[in-house]
Amino acid sequence: MKTLILNGSPRVHGDTVSLIERLTQSLEGEYRIVDAYRCNIAPCIDCRYCWKNSGCAIKDEMQEIYSYIEDCDNVVIASPIYFSELTGKLLDLGSRLQTYYSSKFIRKEQTTMTPKKGAVILVGGGSGKLEKPYETACMLMHHMNCTNIHEVVCSFNTDKVPASQDKKALEEVDEIAGFFNGENK
Ligand SMILES: Cc1cc2nc3c(=O)[nH]c(=O)nc-3n(C[C@H](O)[C@H](O)[C@H](O)COP(=O)(O)O)c2cc1C
Repeated sequence: MKTLILNGSPRVHGDTVSLIERLTQSLEGEYRIVDAYRCNIAPCIDCRYCWKNSGCAIKDEMQEIYSYIEDCDNVVIASPIYFSELTGKLLDLGSRLQTYYSSKFIRKEQTTMTPKKGAVILVGGGSGKLEKPYETACMLMHHMNCTNIHEVVCSFNTDKVPASQDKKALEEVDEIAGFFNGENK
């Protein structure tokens, strides 16, 4: 089993990372984490190469990630909420999924990607509004052919209680691992 984890946080020991670490403790198989703030992935520039061709004209680290996306079994989008959205760097990375949109809706090709399970983990300093970032994350998931998405897991109020001490969120992250591992379909 292969799991791709997209981390939208700039903080190396932050709330998002603590929940990702909890997930990887019980996740079976192999996983790859892409740190949106530290990877070499440029945003989409709408050059429209993918209107006529498969893949992407920008030759950077995303080329490896496309291969991983195409045959992995699960995708996780984990991010802090910034201004009621996923972080900008994560959206930069997400914009490169436009090639899958073009494949489906512009070139009208059948997907060859394996159907995947997905999960979204969000953290927020305040009371948190998750509708917008969750909707965005689900849209990105659909571009990656995630057909079975787990209920959103969130840790709010991290200004006062770090996610690493949020018992409910930690338990829900364990449920995501179980969902991916095939324990609770
Ligand atoms: C620029 C910026 C914007 C933010 N906007 C929100 C917000 O809209 N809602 C919220 O609940 N928290 C917001 N926060 C707080 C972060 O989501 C919170 O501190 C989070 O736990 C950080 O996660 P991390 O440690 O994984 O990076 C914002 C923080 C920053 C730096």
